[in-house]
Amino acid sequence: MPHLIAPSLLSANFLNLGDDIEMINRSEADWIHLDIMDGVFVPNISFGFPVIEQIALKARKPLDVHLMIIDPDRYIDRFREYGAAIISVHYETCHHLHRTTEAIKKSGAKAGVVLNPHTPVTMLNDILQDVDLVLIMSVNPGFGGQKFIVQSYDKIKKLRELRDQNNASFLIEVDGGVDVSNGLKLIKSGVDVLVAGNAIFHSPDPADTIHRMKILG
Ligand code: DX5
Ligand code: ZN
Repeated sequence: MPHLIAPSLLSANFLNLGDDIEMINRSEADWIHLDIMDGVFVPNISFGFPVIEQIALKARKPLDVHLMIIDPDRYIDRFREYGAAIISVHYETCHHLHRTTEAIKKSGAKAGVVLNPHTPVTMLNDILQDVDLVLIMSVNPGFGGQKFIVQSYDKIKKLRELRDQNNASFLIEVDGGVDVSNGLKLIKSGVDVLVAGNAIFHSPDPADTIHRMKILG
């Protein structure tokens, strides 16, 4: 499968969000990545439903929602209602992860699980068949523009092996410090979906950066 590109709107220009969404619509990007932060699980607050509702009205690509919030079960149906195609929850926020991923699927969205840099991929051994996506954080979540953590390559390779050994079919996504220079190595390590914020929106020509990420490999 050719890899997918998911620009993260966290680094977009919030005064001209409509223009940035239009740029993504016209670009070779596959998904739009939305980072939802509650100021509790992560030391930052991003944006919520009123903004997501507006994004959904304009976006013509699937919304890939990354929830960095405690107790995500409370909001699954609302995120779905507001247009989420994929809803990913952090392993570290879920006491009953299987219940949560089932609830996401029941809502009609694809279910993803996110692992912080310190959480080993083996924690997902018993749920590999039940998820549509596993997102590997390659920075500590909370902010755009951070430095890529190099141990993420090995972690992605291990996850890919686990997927093959178990005949599972989830997509592998990576998020944090991803750019044109490390994208190819990430794809070769086993990544299916590259998320990038800073590298796209702070480049001189964001649509061209998306193109350059898309043709890697
Ligand atoms: C960080 C977010 C990321 C962030 C990535 O917690 O999950 O999606 O926007 O930004 P960059 O690509 O700038 O590291
Ligand atoms: Zn994210």
